[in-house]
Amino acid sequence: MQIKKILVFLFSFLNFFTSENFPCYGQRCSVNSINQSTHTNTPASIYLQTRNTYSFRLIFHILYLNPEEKISSAQVNSQIEILNEFFSSSTTNEDLNIPKTFRSLKSNPGFQFCLADIDPNGNPTTGIHWFPINNLSVACQMQFGKRSIMHKTLGGVDIWDPKRYINIYIVNRDQCNALGEAIFPWDATTEEDGIILDYRTIGTIGTASNNQPFHQGKTLVHEMGHYFGLLHLSGDRSNCNGEDSVADTPSQSLEYFGCPEYPQWSCNSESMFMNFMSLVDDPCMQFFTKLQVTRMRTIIARDRSDLLNHSCSIKPVIPLDKIRVTELDGFWQLINLEHNSWSAHFELYDISGKLIWLDSEENIISKTIPGINMLLNPGIYFLNIYNKTSKNCFKLLKN
Ligand code: ARG
Ligand code: ZN
Ligand code: CA
Repeated sequence: MQIKKILVFLFSFLNFFTSENFPCYGQRCSVNSINQSTHTNTPASIYLQTRNTYSFRLIFHILYLNPEEKISSAQVNSQIEILNEFFSSSTTNEDLNIPKTFRSLKSNPGFQFCLADIDPNGNPTTGIHWFPINNLSVACQMQFGKRSIMHKTLGGVDIWDPKRYINIYIVNRDQCNALGEAIFPWDATTEEDGIILDYRTIGTIGTASNNQPFHQGKTLVHEMGHYFGLLHLSGDRSNCNGEDSVADTPSQSLEYFGCPEYPQWSCNSESMFMNFMSLVDDPCMQFFTKLQVTRMRTIIARDRSDLLNHSCSIKPVIPLDKIRVTELDGFWQLINLEHNSWSAHFELYDISGKLIWLDSEENIISKTIPGINMLLNPGIYFLNIYNKTSKNCFKLLKN
């Protein structure tokens, strides 16, 4: 379930500054310069939204006829990096390429992906399995109304429990009519679910490197959008009659391909052809919108909520050196300049070294130190934050 906490902070009277580098009991202490807040004069309510990061375990079934189609685990890992870049960091390589008109609509879904490390029977796995096949027709053939590739009895490989894993099939799709195919949440069954991709679209190395313009791992980003319930912007209908059911993506009378010159117009609005759910070339796909993210999260909660009980066991531990303290109407708030989620323990000490507050959080976007404005006397405080890989320390002044 998506947990949304709306925290309402009322006006308060406090203010604080941080000052120069300070030893902080022997730990590295960051210089955290913050201008004196201007909103202490604004008696307004501030709404802060925090959001859970979702993580998903992937199983790659790689079916190969020729040795070239037996892509390497390094290539699969390069794909996981791309997924994590576009689904879980809010600053990406594409940010500067997004046209200004659309920049503020861009959103970070907050989804992390990892390879499965435990198989359905509880045994260790690398999350990548290779299977020799003797005929490419299994790639897109239907037999008895079923996708052959997802059934062992039809020459394919059975899916792993789709309530616990996202199944990704990799195969040579020369005989199919698209590079990729995803099963929509509302079409999924216990026997058929997941995503099928051509072996040349995976990640950024190996067979992908000479597969321009589909060489940046974005086919799976697009297909993952479908897997979580997103549609093409045109709604796959012509004459502006289609609907992707996302209010902040403009209507389109058609799909864009290649790499169109900006701007393009359709249905009386500027077209967002550079969206991930467009059909343009990899270098020209750049972002998901806020309401596409809302739609994915809503649909996951409705149709794919079981996956949320089986998150990645090994989560990347985010270093804390990009955490900064800001002041919001007298509350101290910790934010990550990288905008991805992070986990940490928190300890607040007063100048005498007395511990006055302690907390731990996992996968948060921001952290507000509760009630500081009510509780603390004016003076200097030290905030230590640490996790498995790093620590950071802030000297805070409350006046
Ligand atoms: N044709 C595929 C689909 O509609 C995906 C196309 C992905 N495009 C890309 N530039 N990688 O699902
Ligand atoms: Zn598509
Ligand atoms: Ca729309």
